[in-house]
Amino acid sequence: MNFSLVSLLGFVALSTVTYAAVIVPGATWTDTSGNVIQAHGGGFLKIGSTYYWHGEDKAHNSGLFRAVSCYTSTDLTTWTRQNDALTPISGTNISTSSIVERPKVLFNKANSEYVLWFHSDTSNYGAAQVGVATAKTPCGPYSYRGSFRPLGAESRDMGLFQDDDAAQTAYLLYASDNNQNFKISKLDANYYNVVSQTSVLSGSTLEAPGIVKRNGVYYLFASHTSGWDPNPNKFFSASSLAGPWSSQADIAPSATRTYFSQNAFDLPINNFAIYMGDRWRPSLLGSSRYIWYPLSWSSGVPQIVHADVWIVNLAAGTYTVATGTTYEAESGIISGSATTLSDSSFSGGKAVGYLGNGGSVTINNVQGNGGAQWVALYYANGDSTWRNTTVSVNGAASVLVDQPNTGGGHVILSVPVKLNLRSGANSITFGAGQSNYAADLDKIIVYTAT
Ligand SMILES: *[C@@H]1O[C@H](CO)[C@@H](O)[C@H](O)[C@H]1NC(C)=O
Ligand SMILES: *[C@@H]1O[C@H](CO)[C@@H](O)[C@H](O)[C@H]1NC(C)=O
Repeated sequence: MNFSLVSLLGFVALSTVTYAAVIVPGATWTDTSGNVIQAHGGGFLKIGSTYYWHGEDKAHNSGLFRAVSCYTSTDLTTWTRQNDALTPISGTNISTSSIVERPKVLFNKANSEYVLWFHSDTSNYGAAQVGVATAKTPCGPYSYRGSFRPLGAESRDMGLFQDDDAAQTAYLLYASDNNQNFKISKLDANYYNVVSQTSVLSGSTLEAPGIVKRNGVYYLFASHTSGWDPNPNKFFSASSLAGPWSSQADIAPSATRTYFSQNAFDLPINNFAIYMGDRWRPSLLGSSRYIWYPLSWSSGVPQIVHADVWIVNLAAGTYTVATGTTYEAESGIISGSATTLSDSSFSGGKAVGYLGNGGSVTINNVQGNGGAQWVALYYANGDSTWRNTTVSVNGAASVLVDQPNTGGGHVILSVPVKLNLRSGANSITFGAGQSNYAADLDKIIVYTAT
């Protein structure tokens, strides 16, 4: 091995700061056994220094119930799968032909008991109930108590919020009345049922809710209703859960449709929170990805901080967005039917289009570290369906990267891919050897943080 002085110094400089692993929204996240994390529509709970992640196991690529999974971590990036928290019971409303979604767990201090709530439904979403189950440990397994309509009204997408008062009063947050009215209702002292309606946002058509309390202000995060498709998620604020709630405002540039994601949970850390969303893929549900970003109040209101690669430092309660090196697609070697496109939405006003189906672009002189590195592909895909692109480094076998549709116009999104780059200059080719069109490639950003 030959080390140049420059790369040796670079290595020393990096090693002086030790961080937990990076968070890469949209990448395929695996657990400590190497399996893809199956915890969609998830909920998070911190007990001591351990985080518990309960979610929907969709490995079977169907919406029907198989398991509420349970994962543990002390750093929010290294997750170990534990026993399933809840599994189907035939002859009940949580059988293998039922819908069990958006599991959320709270610890009930008075009973020293964990209480799991979830959206409990029939396969056509007609029952519109909540289900409740209890356990003495965070991962359970939980004992099913039953499913019901809270205060007799429909409940579909839901979440829970536990307040910081002495009684730790908890609330159900839910899309009700055919998803037209969004409601917040108070739970009983056991967290087994709903006792009274606290607030209703009439005609708000909200779902996928979460609440963060910060400096005495309640921030409600939710999406609107567009099925599995993403939409611009919103926030509302109020000094009381009973309202009045502020009018809705965006948490991310609306054209990005929350960077192609839907809220699942909002986790307060310290000076910030983590927006935890799902990038649903209904045709391949188990390949839906997790989209987590810092939620920052630095502007006074909660806003997602877009980051291809970022680091959470739990001890300090801070986050760091990784910086990388940008390479414009239009400065690459364009071949076949690919062409340069001009539009003000592209970085540098240009991108490369007609990639794939006979067109490709090779970006040369991409500086690498001699290892696996995250590379973000910035692209536009105006179709109503996903595209994908081949990516080949230095002529090696290509990998295929999915490119979700970005919406009308030239909306730019980014998707990550981990590539093995040699130390020094690399050539990366996009769109070669595929018969379908890839998305328009605007630029790539190469990261060194791993
Ligand atoms: C499931 O819930 C329905 C209400 O939608 C109820 O009538 C029914 O008895 C429940 N089924 C079982 C098996 O518990
Ligand atoms: C790649 O995208 C095309 C549509 O452009 C699709 O037909 C094909 O199934 C995708 N390939 C994979 C492996 O997802």
